[in-house]
Amino acid sequence: MHIEIVPFSDTHLEEAAALLALRHQGDHVLEPALPERFTQAAAARAAVEAIWRKPDATGVVAMYEGRMIGYLIGVPRINQVWGRSVWVYLAGHAVNRTYGSEVYRDLYAALSPSWVALGCYAHYALIPASDQPALDAWFALSFGKEQAHGIRETADASSLAPPVDPSLEIRRAELADLEASLELDEIIPRHQSRAPVYAPYWFEEYAPFGDKEAIRQESIEIFQDENAKFWLALRNGRIVGYQLYMPASPHFDKIDNLMVPEQCSYLAIAATREEEQGRGVGRALTAHGLATAQTNGYTHCITDWRVTNLLSSRFWPRQGFRPVAYRLSRRLDERIAWSHEKPSPSPWLS
Ligand SMILES: CC(C)(COP(=O)(O)OP(=O)(O)OC[C@H]1O[C@@H](n2cnc3c(N)ncnc32)[C@H](O)[C@@H]1OP(=O)(O)O)[C@@H](O)C(=O)NCCC(=O)NCCS
Repeated sequence: MHIEIVPFSDTHLEEAAALLALRHQGDHVLEPALPERFTQAAAARAAVEAIWRKPDATGVVAMYEGRMIGYLIGVPRINQVWGRSVWVYLAGHAVNRTYGSEVYRDLYAALSPSWVALGCYAHYALIPASDQPALDAWFALSFGKEQAHGIRETADASSLAPPVDPSLEIRRAELADLEASLELDEIIPRHQSRAPVYAPYWFEEYAPFGDKEAIRQESIEIFQDENAKFWLALRNGRIVGYQLYMPASPHFDKIDNLMVPEQCSYLAIAATREEEQGRGVGRALTAHGLATAQTNGYTHCITDWRVTNLLSSRFWPRQGFRPVAYRLSRRLDERIAWSHEKPSPSPWLS
């Protein structure tokens, strides 16, 4: 089968949207909680176009017998947290499954040199969790699973609740709890900086996430935000765990998020003090947080976790979260920058 790879242009938007809508129809059948609107060409087109219009986005298209059978668009994301990276979002790729997912490998081979030319050696791709052939194609490009994105209904959360523990109190955080709750902020980064996650985190005063005062200010804003539900678990008056629920934004950085249903809550942060883990604090907070989200009109809740985090990657599926997409990552060896060919000797050295 001879496929032709050509650069993505505005003329491809229509056909790319049709491929994306088709893929999402399949995803939606397997996971009806996913938003239905992207099964329609108009919403799918808006999603592809939003990505294509991002600064420095590059894309390619695979053509077979005059028809598009796949496309791939990468968006550079260059900042202190992600370094020099390129992201393939959920609407940034689709292939016609009739021709197989192998075409992803041709698309990546053709497009990624533009990322490398930009000095972007960290590559990320969001792939639907149910699309095993697509995952296999990306694995065969040396990508690996890094993050899982999960979804569940807010209904029936009471079944998660552990047996009533009279020494445990769950209540909404107040501004007076700020200093005590900040103590728990290092649980996640500390845990995730260890084996087998090895996610870098900066414990110094000036972290890429903002200095300590900025983080404190952000916490105050969350505490005062009526829509943010910050739940504390206290044992004998001491905070032993917390969970933060926010309204889930259907967009990220003006990019449509194909995973976010209409009335959706986002479980953004969850942590239990180390010595309290495995004692039902997390389950009690989740049962409470989901039930309150349902009362507040949210039908679904999303969250995400590092697949290498042994605690969270086992905990969230047991709380009923079904993976809907995986973030895959690949980090190129920067030595390829000078290994394409032997550099010619500098005339200045002769
Ligand atoms: C993930 C986390 C929030 C879960 O909270 P928790 O209070 O430990 O959860 P619970 O005690 O209610 O439930 C933990 C489950 O793991 C089991 N478990 C077994 N050994 C355990 C251990 N050493 N530690 C924790 N849980 C353990 C528990 O029995 C329980 O199983 P069940 O759901 O089948 O009953 C908590 O482990 C944590 O803070 N981890 C570090 C930070 C982190 O990873 N946060 C999440 C980022 S996405």
